[in-house]
Amino acid sequence: MESNRSLFIPVILGTARMGRMSLHAAQLVTGELGKCEGVQTELIDIAKLPLPTNDAGEAIKQAEFSANMSKADALVVVSPEYNHGYSGLLKHVLDSCLKEYIHKTVGIVGVSAGPFGGTRVIENLLPVMREIGMVTIFWDVNFSSVQKVFAEDGRLLDESYIRRIDKFLKELIWMAKTLRQGREQISPNSSRETRMAAVANTEKMICPSCRVEMNHHCDKLVYTTDPQDAGQTDPNLGGFIEEFHTCPKCGCGASRHA
Ligand SMILES: Cc1cc2nc3c(=O)[nH]c(=O)nc-3n(C[C@H](O)[C@H](O)[C@H](O)COP(=O)(O)O)c2cc1C
Repeated sequence: MESNRSLFIPVILGTARMGRMSLHAAQLVTGELGKCEGVQTELIDIAKLPLPTNDAGEAIKQAEFSANMSKADALVVVSPEYNHGYSGLLKHVLDSCLKEYIHKTVGIVGVSAGPFGGTRVIENLLPVMREIGMVTIFWDVNFSSVQKVFAEDGRLLDESYIRRIDKFLKELIWMAKTLRQGREQISPNSSRETRMAAVANTEKMICPSCRVEMNHHCDKLVYTTDPQDAGQTDPNLGGFIEEFHTCPKCGCGASRHA
């Protein structure tokens, strides 16, 4: 049964550059997303996240960003193309979470001054998204020659982008609903896993707020730098296996070492 809770799909603006044109693209996509029935959204500006730069990964997790990523059913990442790649700050921000992203979908909006609409930055982001546990969609939005697409005040000069964004969002929302259903209802546990249950962590996880049994929807290899996890790292894998569970009633996620 499909959940009737609203989807939460924040838009991440992936650059802190002064005068960034990507801001206009992010505002436009957030506005269009806000018009979709059953969707809540907000624009997350990475320039405003107080993350230190003398450390990296989950060690610098910022509470509000982490809570937004946990609550999210999907993400839109708006990324400018810088030397065919993404901004270092965007990667730094994405790396500050991990468990929050698992089995959620992401759509990428590329922005460039050149004619390729951020195609190369989108391609470069795909393997990163895969490793952080997200599922990418096959629609992108490409803002090429972005200086001609928006006026200086951010007004859209080329209305054809509305249709492209609509197609992109329809696919993203379909994938968000499908993956939510999967997180909440579908377990990969097979007869093989049942055979292995004697050695696995078989205790049920219970949602702390709903008190119902959570759905175990996947396991993922997690690389850790936390000294507290050192003893639990599998030397053959270079990390440890984490189990991911989601509450079928409220959608909240939880995880534990397998
Ligand atoms: C460091 C840097 C590298 C850039 N490299 C590229 C590039 O490889 N291809 C391209 O089309 N535009 C490139 N640009 C231009 C951006 O695509 C352009 O500024 C566009 O407006 C999107 O970035 P913005 O949101 O920072 O404005 C580069 C800009 C910067 C600051």
